[in-house]
Amino acid sequence: MILLSVESSCDETSVSIIKDGNNILSNVVLSQIDVHKQYGGVVPEIASREHIKGITMVFEEAIEKAGIAKEEIELVAVTMGPGLIGSLLVGINAAKAFAFANGIEIMGVHHIAGHIYANAISEELEFPLICLVVSGGHTELILMKEHYDFVKLGETTDDAIGEAYDKVARTVGLGYPGGPIVDRLAFEGNPTYKMPNIKLGDNYNFSFSGIKSHVINLVHNATQRNEEINIPDLCASFQETVTDVLVYKSIKAIKEYNVKMFMIAGGVAANKGLRKKISEQITSVRVVVPEFKYCTDNAAMIGIAGYYQYQKRKTDDDMSLNGKSRLDLV
Ligand code: KG4
Ligand code: ZN
Repeated sequence: MILLSVESSCDETSVSIIKDGNNILSNVVLSQIDVHKQYGGVVPEIASREHIKGITMVFEEAIEKAGIAKEEIELVAVTMGPGLIGSLLVGINAAKAFAFANGIEIMGVHHIAGHIYANAISEELEFPLICLVVSGGHTELILMKEHYDFVKLGETTDDAIGEAYDKVARTVGLGYPGGPIVDRLAFEGNPTYKMPNIKLGDNYNFSFSGIKSHVINLVHNATQRNEEINIPDLCASFQETVTDVLVYKSIKAIKEYNVKMFMIAGGVAANKGLRKKISEQITSVRVVVPEFKYCTDNAAMIGIAGYYQYQKRKTDDDMSLNGKSRLDLV
């Protein structure tokens, strides 16, 4: 089966063509980072306009690169949320128009299901599993007992981890998106700055606004006193503390739910400090991490999630689980 997928929830316009679940024939990603960089973050109105400018070209390039005729496409999958509403609408309308013009079915896919399924592009998933979702908008621990079945064990009670990374980077003038820069600098420094304890209680929730404010105050106080900040050391201290709590709570979930596999998902899954800590500390179960190019937003991950959602729907028509939509659980 050949499927076309579309992702436009934030600042990447992307279309992918996938054959039989995980054979990626093309995955075109048009990033708007250069446009938003000058504002220090994504400007929603500009993002929608950029999607409109790029979407037709991205559709055409994805189909051409896949080397197929558009008549061969049998299903369309599109990110339906969460994300920036104006940005989502561009992708959804383009996907609907394509499906309508070609007389094929269209289905909406949850953005986080896409991030989770980026792991299934090159690896077989084994259940039960725990997935740590770490992105610009989400920080969650998810339990999956079977394909396309998501139970949220805990989540951030305030900022998402990617948001905290970007804010810390901005505070010390490192540019946007700051996550990858903080990650790189962290390896050049030592964790010498004292950070607050962010482990919270005996649960699976997270909180990153306290450590974010701590870093902001630390930098402002130093500026007022004319003191130098050692930026690599500050990045190392921040990274050490946040990755510690992410791995600590992941291990707790792995043990409690006695799972066969652990994986990570989302833009911050590209973080080398997090990957290193996971490989050192999570040794009792199989660990899978997505390829770097599938960590940040792309349509291939939406396509593979769409494929499994479609398979599930064949056996479970109303997509319901204990009276709740599967997607509401994410
Ligand atoms: O998943 P994503 O592309 O977008 C959302 O769905 O939110 O994630 C983007 C986030 C940004 O906050 C970016 O700074 C962060 O992922 N990020 C990183 C790294 N690479 C991307 N954060 C820390 N370390 C990295 N290497
Ligand atoms: Zn994302």
